[in-house]
Amino acid sequence: MARTLLCLQIKGVQCMKQILILGGAGELGRRLARRLVTRFASVSVVLAGRRSEPLEGVAKALCAEAPDRVRTRLVDAADPKSVARALSDIDLLVTAAPIAAHVDTIASACVEVGVDAVDSHADPRAWAAWRDHRLALQRVGRRCIAQAGLHPGLSPPVVRAAAAGFDAGARLVIAMAMYERNTSTSSLLEIVDIMGTSELKTYENGRWGDAGWSFPQIEFGPRMGRRTCFPLFLDELEGLPEDLRLGSLAAYIAGYNWFSDYLVSPVVPLLYRLRPGLGRAAAARTIAWTLRRFRPVKRDGCEVVAEAEGTVDGRPARARILIGADDTWGLTATALLACVEQIHEGRVAPGVHRMGDTVPPEPLLDLLSSEGVDVRVTRSRPQEKASA
Ligand SMILES: NC(=O)c1ccc[n+]([C@@H]2O[C@H](COP(=O)([O-])OP(=O)(O)OC[C@H]3O[C@@H](n4cnc5c(N)ncnc54)[C@H](OP(=O)(O)O)[C@@H]3O)[C@@H](O)[C@H]2O)c1
Repeated sequence: MARTLLCLQIKGVQCMKQILILGGAGELGRRLARRLVTRFASVSVVLAGRRSEPLEGVAKALCAEAPDRVRTRLVDAADPKSVARALSDIDLLVTAAPIAAHVDTIASACVEVGVDAVDSHADPRAWAAWRDHRLALQRVGRRCIAQAGLHPGLSPPVVRAAAAGFDAGARLVIAMAMYERNTSTSSLLEIVDIMGTSELKTYENGRWGDAGWSFPQIEFGPRMGRRTCFPLFLDELEGLPEDLRLGSLAAYIAGYNWFSDYLVSPVVPLLYRLRPGLGRAAAARTIAWTLRRFRPVKRDGCEVVAEAEGTVDGRPARARILIGADDTWGLTATALLACVEQIHEGRVAPGVHRMGDTVPPEPLLDLLSSEGVDVRVTRSRPQEKASA
């Protein structure tokens, strides 16, 4: 009997939905676990990873808030048997570990055991591995939301929210800035991969083209201030200009500090052109040092800003959405929570989806606000004509 999405009542006993967090003791995993048990009374969480001690520590801290709803389990994502065994009583798996190379193993286990998934990897290899299991997941009636989290999952729904109500031809910019002195080595390695492989494209005059040397200064919010930004193309944005009838669309990411921006970032793509991954660890170590050494932001955290300009009903209008948090992992965990909620509420068809195409904008902004994320929406729109 397939597991149900919502709680089952069997002979008066309420069944908990079991969610396994792979990487449950990590920075992201532990924040997600707390959000899951506090948001869903019908959810029980299994914290999973390779070492027992950190898992037990996080479970103990959470038990006060959710007695009997947090367990731990030893799992190594590199070992297919260990993954399949760990999923045997699980409804939904969330990845919060640097295991992009093992996503194929995880996707196979989800098909074999019949488990839904939310995957937080931004790495294109992870998306490709899920895509390879699309038909198999459909066949067993399971679904995965991949590319979930802050990057790249959050940007497309925020673009949709900012563009809402504009006439055709609006110009839209979305940008992200983050600064965490204690960014984990695994996350930094992934950020170096993004630097090494990103395309620099913006949408203008009906097509995506080379962004050229455009490094605008963008005004973020109270944490990040005004920052120099670099173009960052996201696959998820590709179809949005046509969907939303935009005149232009550009995505940017703020640099970290002068050392990282001018001495590390330009070198990484050159090295990756010679051989993917070349200089990866050294670049991550150097950025980690710069994050501790320099501090160009007002306070640590993360901000995403989207600005739209155009007309509404033929009259000039603007919109600005700022999403900010002092804790980048907390914001990422909340974005993952939005994906879990979509699956939990039965809104996602079997198969493989990207967060950016799946999570609707307004419920996402509502959820972020309700979870304490700083969400500021400003719209200057033409006034309605006063009724006679
Ligand atoms: N999309 C986004 O916006 C976004 C943002 C931040 C992070 N992330 C994702 O979240 C991941 C974790 O980030 P983090 O900062 O929380 O890292 P972290 O603090 O280093 O935690 C990683 C966790 O993964 C576990 N782990 C590592 N290898 C494993 C394996 N082979 N099998 C099972 N568990 C394993 C580790 O525990 P053990 O060593 O005990 O196994 C650890 O608990 C990142 O690598 C990234 O993929 C995504």
